[in-house]
Amino acid sequence: MKDEEIKLRIINDTEDDYKLLEKWYQNKDVYRHFEQRKLSYEEIQKKYGPRTSLDSKIPVFMIEYENIPVGIIQYQLIDDENKKLYDLNIDNSFEVDIFIGESNLYNKGLGRKSINLLSNYLFKERKANAIVMCPLKENKRAIKCYENCGFKIKREFQTKDTIGISQKFILMIKEK
Ligand SMILES: CC(C)(COP(=O)(O)OP(=O)(O)OC[C@H]1O[C@@H](n2cnc3c(N)ncnc32)[C@H](O)[C@@H]1OP(=O)(O)O)[C@@H](O)C(=O)NCCC(=O)NCCS
Repeated sequence: MKDEEIKLRIINDTEDDYKLLEKWYQNKDVYRHFEQRKLSYEEIQKKYGPRTSLDSKIPVFMIEYENIPVGIIQYQLIDDENKKLYDLNIDNSFEVDIFIGESNLYNKGLGRKSINLLSNYLFKERKANAIVMCPLKENKRAIKCYENCGFKIKREFQTKDTIGISQKFILMIKEK
């Protein structure tokens, strides 16, 4: 997937890509929205190794801006458990997650362009009926970015994050 500036390519099962992810997972702006802690190289390899193929349950794409890797974006089909959590009754819906690795690259439209590229792919090629994004309620920049991509706030919900702390999330949906 690509436009004039942004290219999305599946991450590689290589030291180069894992080292980039390891570097980005030391950035608090990144990890506090994902694992809530820094990840080591081994943890990165364990988490992302199974996501290096388009056939993976959660394929992960490197976002390249003018051929330089700047972050990742991933998608997964929403399963029945999360359909219940989101109170969602739309089949073939996908959830998307994204981060830009370096804080000095925020607010330059890279998130918006990457999400639009992946959304077009999911709607056209994967016949998605809806795409969901679930930022933390406090993550105002992410919420604004997703609104700019056409996502609408549906509601707020509370659930435990990856380290078991109860957090408020915002459910945002873009329908076909
Ligand atoms: C969230 C993220 C992916 C967005 O990507 P990005 O390239 O920074 O976003 P964009 O530049 O496309 O859009 C950001 C928008 O938020 C706005 N914004 C920034 N800070 C804001 C704030 N505190 N309150 C409201 N809006 C804000 C920007 O002005 C911009 O809107 P505009 O284009 O209308 O001016 C990126 O910032 C990121 O990776 N953050 C850290 C990890 C993260 O939060 N991931 C998402 C988890 S759900």
